[in-house]
Amino acid sequence: MSHTSTAQRYIVRPAASVQGELTVPGDKSISHRALMLGGIAAGQTSISGFLASEDCLATLAALAELGVRIERPQETLAGAAAALDMGNAGTAMRLLMGLLAGQRFDSTLIGDGSLMRRPMERVAAPLRAMGARIDTQGGTPPVRIHGGAALHGIDYALPVASAQVKSALLLAALYAQGETSVTEPAPTRDHTERMLRGFGVQLECAAGRTRLAGGQQLRGCEIQVPGDFSSAAFFIVAGCLAARNGLTIRGVGVNPTRTGLLQLLRLMGADIELQPHPAAAEPMADIHVRAAALRGIRVPEQLVALAIDEFPVFFIAAAAAQGQTVVTGAGELRVKESDRLAAMATGLTTLGIECELLPDGLRLQGGAMRGGRIDSHGDHRIAMAFAVASLIASGPIEIEDVANVATSFPGFARLARAAGLALED
Ligand code: S3P
Repeated sequence: MSHTSTAQRYIVRPAASVQGELTVPGDKSISHRALMLGGIAAGQTSISGFLASEDCLATLAALAELGVRIERPQETLAGAAAALDMGNAGTAMRLLMGLLAGQRFDSTLIGDGSLMRRPMERVAAPLRAMGARIDTQGGTPPVRIHGGAALHGIDYALPVASAQVKSALLLAALYAQGETSVTEPAPTRDHTERMLRGFGVQLECAAGRTRLAGGQQLRGCEIQVPGDFSSAAFFIVAGCLAARNGLTIRGVGVNPTRTGLLQLLRLMGADIELQPHPAAAEPMADIHVRAAALRGIRVPEQLVALAIDEFPVFFIAAAAAQGQTVVTGAGELRVKESDRLAAMATGLTTLGIECELLPDGLRLQGGAMRGGRIDSHGDHRIAMAFAVASLIASGPIEIEDVANVATSFPGFARLARAAGLALED
């Protein structure tokens, strides 16, 4: 058994229970934003709890290329000599498009095979409407940003609920003349808005609309990054399936724009309690979970964006539940690190779960699960979701192509074993 983070596959044997206490690494969304906002703020920003995963290290390397000294104050960015390689990190690429659109210099953004296939026009088009000069290649990376464009504020209604697009536009708005307003069709994670306030930026958020006046200077500050709810999610579901004596995850970020999974699991009959920490810019809590009998649900569409990254592991909970679960309005899952609807439907079918792929969701019937071989499609969350499935499977699950777990959750295999999973990597 090797314990490196670059394992190519997991073999996970059935295990009867999980228990104990654990802490998950820092939040990925907040770590990306802390680096970017710290990089353009006047004065020093210190970040505790930073997630040193591959995705966030790609952002750190890109900012270093752009002239940000990570230990010293830096208020302006300088052009990078080469293309900025964002690896697997969609958040990094989309947010940087917004940050770089208003700079004096040219930039090019590239990524790994998965990122080079992901849609970027959703960010490029509204940035162009602000005056930016940006090219994509048929909608996907490389993204070329021509510097020296004079940006102006716009009123923009997002066609899809996306925190990445909203955040990119708010970052560009800092460099634009006049006011920018962004309206979202459903609430999405608001880490950028909260963090901008921490850096002294004035913005107004009301009725799904965020307004920000251009030309504001950020002031460095201290940021505490909470544990990543999306990483905790694997253990929350593991606890629902098999923590007969309880499982506790400490110091998890529980911003309500991230915790839709808790609402979904509670609708299914889960036994989950939160013990909040003292109030901070980003709310935190210890999460206590106990095994409970789950029943299938129809997922309310307004909760989809609030649980968007948790669907892979939610489908594992649904497979363990009694009865049918139906998810619709989740077409965005098709353009994540993999087509997560297709990857989960194929994997669950391999393990003997009856499921039907819908254009924008999945219908599945809870039932007995067997072992089998799963292709994660290089998607970290698909790999970790099927590791959790070992708690309800009758045979070993072999999960291929798991190296990208390191993009969001370094140390997952070790923590999973500590909780009770029989995982070999
Ligand atoms: C993220 C927003 C979500 C999410 C992604 C991280 C962010 O993407 O899936 O993992 O940090 O803003 P969309 O905004 O595209 O839905």
